[in-house]
Amino acid sequence: MDWGIRNRLSRIILRNDNRALMLAVDHGYFLGPTEKLEVPKKTIAPLLKYCDSLMTTRGVQRTSVDPTYPIPIVLRVSGGSSIIGEDLSNEEITTSIKEAIRLNACAVAMSIFVGSKNEKQTVVNLGKLVNEAEEYGIPVLAVTAVGKEMARDARYLSLACRIAAEQGAHIVKTYYCDDFEKVVQSCPVPIIIAGGKKLPEKDALKLTYDALKAGASGVDMGRNIWQSENPVPMIKAVRAIVHQNYNVDEAWKLYIKLCNEKKSKPQKQNQVKSKSDRPNANNKNRPSANNKNRPSANNKNRPNANNKNRPNANNKNRPSANNKNRPSANNKNRPSANNKNRPSANNKNRPSANNKKN
Ligand code: 5RP
Repeated sequence: MDWGIRNRLSRIILRNDNRALMLAVDHGYFLGPTEKLEVPKKTIAPLLKYCDSLMTTRGVQRTSVDPTYPIPIVLRVSGGSSIIGEDLSNEEITTSIKEAIRLNACAVAMSIFVGSKNEKQTVVNLGKLVNEAEEYGIPVLAVTAVGKEMARDARYLSLACRIAAEQGAHIVKTYYCDDFEKVVQSCPVPIIIAGGKKLPEKDALKLTYDALKAGASGVDMGRNIWQSENPVPMIKAVRAIVHQNYNVDEAWKLYIKLCNEKKSKPQKQNQVKSKSDRPNANNKNRPSANNKNRPSANNKNRPNANNKNRPNANNKNRPSANNKNRPSANNKNRPSANNKNRPSANNKNRPSANNKKN
């Protein structure tokens, strides 16, 4: 596979555990101001640091995502129909590859509607998008969209996922269903699941766990995170399943604990930033030239050449080739392919298809 594609993919499906936690906030492209995503900036900001990547549209990316925050973007590039229109499957590619490059996308995403009136149009769109995106080393995520009237069963979803992979999609996003192993096994590229409509939190955690156990590489979850009464505890609990091998009960306990902590500290969690917290000219805490706490050349805590704690060649704690604690190929604790404790497909403690723990 092309270096650029592999590099970008590794920012979406993380290389240490082959898992992905993508936060989906692209719903407005056909649903308009969806509940709890009315002001995308407000919804996204507190969750950004807990997801691996963000699935969004160019409009939301430009207006509502901090361009200086290093979050990999999976850019939805299809659209054209709305929830009140005649046919949701009537989609085209609306955002160009040039735009995806300008927006520094790590992948582009579009929907295919297998079995719909516009099946051919959307599948051909996918093939063309793969042709174009691959020229620039950009992976393509195909979403197997399901019309209201279609059954979300393993037979149908296997068909749709396989068709997406055959067209060259590098990742396929679909819905969880009974016998999900069959869907995963017959799709030669990684599968991630959408969360779907809002469920009670514990059910959404179970959905996540069951999908991973059946072989999914992760989630691209939206409503079950940001429509929760407690979006940050929820994304942290989902994250614990995806990246820390928590089972449903462990993740649920974590969720409850975080919610209780939030209740006991309402001020801190819910507080709207006061003026004095804002990095503006009148804020004494702003990192300015006159601020003693500013990381300047005269500040002993600044990571400079004279600072003993700086990670430099003479610092024993520096992650160097001679440092035993460095995550290197020879370090037994390193999360590598050869590390038995690594949460891999062969790790018995990982919620995988073969793990009977839960
Ligand atoms: C819509 C999408 C959404 O991103 C997808 O449905 C994921 O969000 P949710 O978890 O809310 O279902 O691709 O076509």
